[in-house]
Amino acid sequence: MMKYLKKYWFFCLLAPLFMIGEVSMDLIQPDMMADIVDNGVLKSDINLIITVGIRMILFVMLGGFAGVMCGVFANIAAQGFGNDLRKDLFSKIMSLSFQQTDKISTGSLVTRLTNDVTQVQNMVMMSVRGLVRNSVMFVGGILMLYRQSPKFAVIAACGLPFIVVFVTFFLKKASPLFAIVQKKLDGINNVMQEDVAGARVVKAYVKEEHELKRFDAANEALCTENLRVQTLLAFMSPCMNIVLNLCIVAVILVGGMTVKNGGSMTPGSVMAGITYLSQILHGVTFMANIFQTFTRAKASADRINEVLNSPEIIMDGTYEELGNKRNDRADQKGEIEFRNVSFAYPESSGEKVLENISFTVKQGETLAIIGATGCGKSSVVKLIPRFYDVTEGAIFVDGRNVKDYKLKDLRKKISIVLQKAELYSRPIEANIRWGKKDATPWEIKSAAKIAQADDFICASKYGYHTMVSEGGHSLSGGQKQRISIARAVLKEHEILIFDDSTSALDLKTEAMLYEALRTQCPGTTKIIIAQRIASVKDADRIAVMDEGRISALGTHEELMRNSEIYRDIYKSQLKEGGEF
Ligand SMILES: Nc1ncnc2c1ncn2[C@@H]1O[C@H](COP(=O)(O)OP(=O)(O)O)[C@@H](O)[C@H]1O
Ligand SMILES: [Mg+2]
Repeated sequence: MMKYLKKYWFFCLLAPLFMIGEVSMDLIQPDMMADIVDNGVLKSDINLIITVGIRMILFVMLGGFAGVMCGVFANIAAQGFGNDLRKDLFSKIMSLSFQQTDKISTGSLVTRLTNDVTQVQNMVMMSVRGLVRNSVMFVGGILMLYRQSPKFAVIAACGLPFIVVFVTFFLKKASPLFAIVQKKLDGINNVMQEDVAGARVVKAYVKEEHELKRFDAANEALCTENLRVQTLLAFMSPCMNIVLNLCIVAVILVGGMTVKNGGSMTPGSVMAGITYLSQILHGVTFMANIFQTFTRAKASADRINEVLNSPEIIMDGTYEELGNKRNDRADQKGEIEFRNVSFAYPESSGEKVLENISFTVKQGETLAIIGATGCGKSSVVKLIPRFYDVTEGAIFVDGRNVKDYKLKDLRKKISIVLQKAELYSRPIEANIRWGKKDATPWEIKSAAKIAQADDFICASKYGYHTMVSEGGHSLSGGQKQRISIARAVLKEHEILIFDDSTSALDLKTEAMLYEALRTQCPGTTKIIIAQRIASVKDADRIAVMDEGRISALGTHEELMRNSEIYRDIYKSQLKEGGEF
């Protein structure tokens, strides 16, 4: 994490320098005060009081200026550090594979990106300001104290070990608790994330109270943990204060006796001694707070590092697409081959979701996949752009193992419309443009036409500039699906994959969509997952999946003859809808 500070080394250096300036001014004050008491007040020298007094004011102002400068530079360093760290963390989170985001919850990722970064940022701020301030205060204070009287220094030396013991004791106890606190914060963010995103479902099921209870539980848990840490730390300050005050009493006693017995001390130096001592010991108390920030930041830094250092599970292959042949249609084939593919989700207990899947889809061909929910249809297509890697067997695109491609090159070939249509809060036009940054309005319109979205878009008041609300809530399911399809069609691709992407369309619109695809994108290889036979019966070939296996593969007519499962699906759908 240090590497993020490197960029700001200049400010990290300047801030402490100014801080030293500020502390020096603070340290001179008691000495001058002693001067005023001993030589001004006790000897009734008004001139000395005025000159030293003016000097004190000047020094205070100088110190104040240095303090401001230090604050400014420390902030530049800390904010810059936090900014860079957050940026990298975000880009790392974006690059995490599905497997990794399945494991670390969304809430936790949000906490890490916000609260944890802030904790570490605070630590940077504390280090360049507080740590320097208090170390200088401590060392300088001891020196100045020694100058007033070595006896005072001895008293301070007696008090110190107690303070060190207290600080170590409390922080050792607190540090594991901080990690727990952050975890509880994850809990809150998880509930919040789910409920804010799923507010409609919560309302539909009238589950507000239930979710409130769930939130309360998470909130309560955070509160309890925080209380535990803070109660523990609440003991720290009073313990240190007792030591501090005992030391001050000792200084007054020793100093007072020496002055009374006509020793080498003056009332002014006793006063200065008391001030130095409280400066030193306050410094130590502050240090304790800083260490507390450190322990807390350490817990946060670990959590950030866990994400930053998470290995790239899905790695680039070594094969480079030669030159810029993307526009060379002849070179784009889009052939897909599954060779004995088996797959189990990484976090599951090794239970295979797909078993021994083999098939080939030639360029321009349309393969439909049909089967009961949960039989593994989505899993099949998620393997092609390597959202997950196969457990056994291999997948080939254009005759090359998908693992050999650079991820970017592989994913450029594939346009996939996921089962859940995700739209972003921006105009419809921008949502479609997502597929191709430099698309012309005409290209966007024709993509929308293929997706059968043009009609309803143009019918709305603002046309392509209609804003889509967050998550696409302002659109119907079928409209969302058609916009997602337009986005996928617009993206340059050799392979087009629809994962149950037309489920919310009526049969007529769906048929028109497939017809448009057939005529407008003849060279594209298509894989279409669907629930309805009506959606798939015109495909070149249909794969019938059953419990992770392909139980039959062929045209509609062939399957009607040979596959019992297919016939069952056919009959059940015919019964429901009569003519589909
Ligand atoms: N991210 C995941 N982690 C673990 N198991 C999963 C994950 N996604 C899906 N599954 C499991 O894999 C099986 C197949 O799911 P899926 O391919 O989505 O089915 P389909 O698309 O045919 O409805 C299901 O039993 C499901 O529980
Ligand atoms: Mg699915």
